[in-house]
Amino acid sequence: MPINRHPALIKLSQDHHEFLVAAQNIRWLMDGDERATNAGDVVESLLKFWNQGGELHLREEEEVAYPFYLQHVPLAKKEIDALKTDHMWLRDKFEELTHMPHFENTTPLLRSLGEYMVSHIRYEEQVIYEKIQDTLDESALEELAAKSAAFRQEHRGEEPVHETKVKLPTTGLLTLKLDD
Ligand SMILES: [Fe+2]
Ligand SMILES: [Fe+2]
Repeated sequence: MPINRHPALIKLSQDHHEFLVAAQNIRWLMDGDERATNAGDVVESLLKFWNQGGELHLREEEEVAYPFYLQHVPLAKKEIDALKTDHMWLRDKFEELTHMPHFENTTPLLRSLGEYMVSHIRYEEQVIYEKIQDTLDESALEELAAKSAAFRQEHRGEEPVHETKVKLPTTGLLTLKLDD
């Protein structure tokens, strides 16, 4: 099932794709898949992803998207709090991975990180982002898009782009992962 994502959320959804790519690399490693690289490379690329955009994705949700949504739908607070708890868990685990001595076995940590990322993102995509774009009216979504663009310009050096409603690729990892 392709996901119709409003432009206000498309960048965050594209980040989700990156999370799923990272989780897939972990899964390949765990499964001994022929596409897997070695554990050292998986850890290195995972930390690079986290430091270059992964953690900022969580911050954008916490500082921009979710507070804005809660202004319009205060009753969603409980769901959003649960997502923030997930974020804290993810930060803890990435912190642990960053400081893990090279001789230590990273398998249990990588496995739980990969599984956790997939379930967190699947829930956000299938439930929360759907609710945000279904609940907020067009002018609110445009306001959210502007706030998101400003955050990304400030923290990620991204130039704002104007996108129309985008259908994520039906064969993309995001769709595949969400459907399985
Ligand atoms: Fe999140
Ligand atoms: Fe997210």
